[in-house]
Amino acid sequence: MLRNLTRLSLRCLHTTPSRHINITFIDGDKQTLAKAIRGDTLLESAKDYNVKLAATCGGMAECSTCHVIADDATMSMLDEAGEEEMDTLDAAPGVTNNSRLACQVDVTRKMEGAVFYLPKETKDVR
Ligand code: FES
Repeated sequence: MLRNLTRLSLRCLHTTPSRHINITFIDGDKQTLAKAIRGDTLLESAKDYNVKLAATCGGMAECSTCHVIADDATMSMLDEAGEEEMDTLDAAPGVTNNSRLACQVDVTRKMEGAVFYLPKETKDVR
């Protein structure tokens, strides 16, 4: 019982508003404001709000179907991409200097107000 209460308490703490970060996804004319949870990946946040990212490799940085493009202000909020992410992005269509793989971006406090665009085209590059 105590274990269940502790788990419940942790879950409640995990979802309190202070842990929520406002992130906007833009897919053509559609904007989705997500209240992302710090510590989740950007992909998990997108999925929570039914943002259309195929993510066919399941978040392993192998497919590029979670490709998103950050606006300039958002880029300064993000940690640098790792080598594996960059290698996968190299093969993705429509890559820009602001491209990222949503599965490789952890939601952090400094991402409040971040904006990500979905590219017109994605491709599984595996
Ligand atoms: S889900 Fe495949 S690269 Fe992100």
